[in-house]
Amino acid sequence: MQMIKTDTYKELSCLAADEIRELVNRKRDCVLGLATGSTPIGMYEQLAALYRDGCIDFSAVTSVNLDEYRGLSPAHPQSYRFFMNHHLFEHINIDMHNTYVPLGEDTNAERVCADYDRLIAQCGPIDLQVLGIGHDGHIGFNEPDDHFTPGTHCVTLNPVTIRANRRFFASESEVPTQAYTMGIRPILQAGKVLLLASGKEKAGILKKALTGPITPLVPASILQLHPHLVVIGDAEALSEFGR
Ligand code: PGA
Repeated sequence: MQMIKTDTYKELSCLAADEIRELVNRKRDCVLGLATGSTPIGMYEQLAALYRDGCIDFSAVTSVNLDEYRGLSPAHPQSYRFFMNHHLFEHINIDMHNTYVPLGEDTNAERVCADYDRLIAQCGPIDLQVLGIGHDGHIGFNEPDDHFTPGTHCVTLNPVTIRANRRFFASESEVPTQAYTMGIRPILQAGKVLLLASGKEKAGILKKALTGPITPLVPASILQLHPHLVVIGDAEALSEFGR
């Protein structure tokens, strides 16, 4: 595991964007595993700026996102498809047909999950998977459980997660209670995993995930087994790791 501590969120975002730029410039038709949430927003801004400056070409890139709320249409402003279009895809030259997010509006969980697993298998292994970490240690929406789930599945969100996501909705009752998420297998099979964390409130869970026992009760702890894990965190998020 490589751990990079940055002074600021801006620096974290630039370093993360550089990882993607380096990959895309080396392998034009790479597969990016992308994440939503507050943490990667700065990285997406940076990628859009790199594209504007002619430093990166996404025309042959494929992206697969980690997760989507079950029951939200792509047009819903809080859907993760909307998030990705708004924060990244509309600002770069990726072919929209090569961008994938689980189909939240289809409530047939069995179909959505099987289709997404098929899609991931067809795209080939993910070259670089970007991850944030939830307050409860989730990655994607792989919530704490008594087992790790390898494939795409439908999850009932943890109350902690619903509370954390409440800030994006008018009220807590509007936060969807279920989501589709990529399972652990494609994350572990990714060529490289980039785990991003910012802020004091992530310090405890990050320390637990990266140095504690590997357990499905802390889903991010499985990343300890990944042969090419890069953690980029700001000083607050990495404050429990010492200097
Ligand atoms: P955040 O979410 O980036 O909004 O903190 C991280 C996550 O839940 O994976």
